[in-house]
Amino acid sequence: MQAAFFRATGGPEVIEHGLVPRPVPAPGSVLVRVAATAVNHVDTFVRSGKYATELAFPQAAGRDLVGVVEETDPAGDPGFARGDAVWSNSMGFGGRPGAAARFAAVPRDRLYRLPDGVDPVQAAAVLHAGATAYLALHVHGDVQGGDTVFVGGAAGGVGSALLVQAVRAGARVVVSARATDLEYCRSLGASAAIDYASPDFAARLRGAVADASGGRGLDIHIETSGRHQLELAVDLLALRGRIIALSGLAATNQVPLGRLYTRDGSIRGFAISNATVAELAAAAGAVNELLEDGSLRARDVTVLPLSAAASAHASLESGTARGKLVLVPQ
Ligand SMILES: NC(=O)c1ccc[n+]([C@@H]2O[C@H](COP(=O)([O-])OP(=O)(O)OC[C@H]3O[C@@H](n4cnc5c(N)ncnc54)[C@H](OP(=O)(O)O)[C@@H]3O)[C@@H](O)[C@H]2O)c1
Repeated sequence: MQAAFFRATGGPEVIEHGLVPRPVPAPGSVLVRVAATAVNHVDTFVRSGKYATELAFPQAAGRDLVGVVEETDPAGDPGFARGDAVWSNSMGFGGRPGAAARFAAVPRDRLYRLPDGVDPVQAAAVLHAGATAYLALHVHGDVQGGDTVFVGGAAGGVGSALLVQAVRAGARVVVSARATDLEYCRSLGASAAIDYASPDFAARLRGAVADASGGRGLDIHIETSGRHQLELAVDLLALRGRIIALSGLAATNQVPLGRLYTRDGSIRGFAISNATVAELAAAAGAVNELLEDGSLRARDVTVLPLSAAASAHASLESGTARGKLVLVPQ
């Protein structure tokens, strides 16, 4: 079968496109015919070796896939039938084969139904961001109605998914974004949107957080750009506020620890790769609700053939990629 795979970790050029044996699903797995697979930052971390995980070379690249059941579980589990539209967001790490292939054998407890009528390419574009945002807010952030939440980089994939889900949870959401994206963020429900490049960014953020929270401060602070300003973040925290760290693989920020602990503040880091099967299933349920009602949508999707996997990784890493990149097997 056709696949985009690598034989060793390294730069984007280690990705080859060619034929590999079609997988045979083991008991407990389902063979999925892949319709679309996303290119996410984490795929470049796994391919480069920056995120250490068990790989089985030749390793197909990619984590998220949307497709159709081709062969059911050989153990006879009736959960999925041939032809069912499905998705997964936990392939390509932890010893599992990757998603960038014509077929993938997916453990059935990591496979979810795609709601009727949802376009596979559109779904592939938002699954990773949508599940990450759910985990950030509900598993690690403990978001509550009435909270005040800051989302940095809210026009991005994870940022926009955080904004939509925090608003849905009943929070007031203050965001940062590029000047030309502020209106988009307001259209998703941001109560205040601030240009991250404005010279008086810190003062404007302080004002917006004070207004949104009635002077209480932030219950949750999440920066998705990897450019952390922890001095400012800790200053903005409400009593028992949480900074959720999810971006900035190479970040080495200093923590203003005295100011953090004296307001019972905390910094909670997480990576979706460590999520349990139960946490991922809960996230999948939330993502499916948002897919069904159309509120989790990518603004701009670029569809490429699977043969473009190496160049897709290169453009995502160099920051030149425009829109969400989705690969489609031919
Ligand atoms: N921990 C986890 O489990 C997990 C899971 C998924 C993703 N992530 C991480 O989350 C991060 C975001 O991923 P993504 O897919 O959402 O990427 P993305 O779509 O590229 O979003 C990043 C956003 O940050 C904005 N930005 C750039 N500079 C900024 C600044 N100085 N201040 C505020 N925002 C700024 C960008 O805006 P412009 O385009 O206008 O510059 C863009 O909208 C990545 O680092 C990824 O590795 C972590």
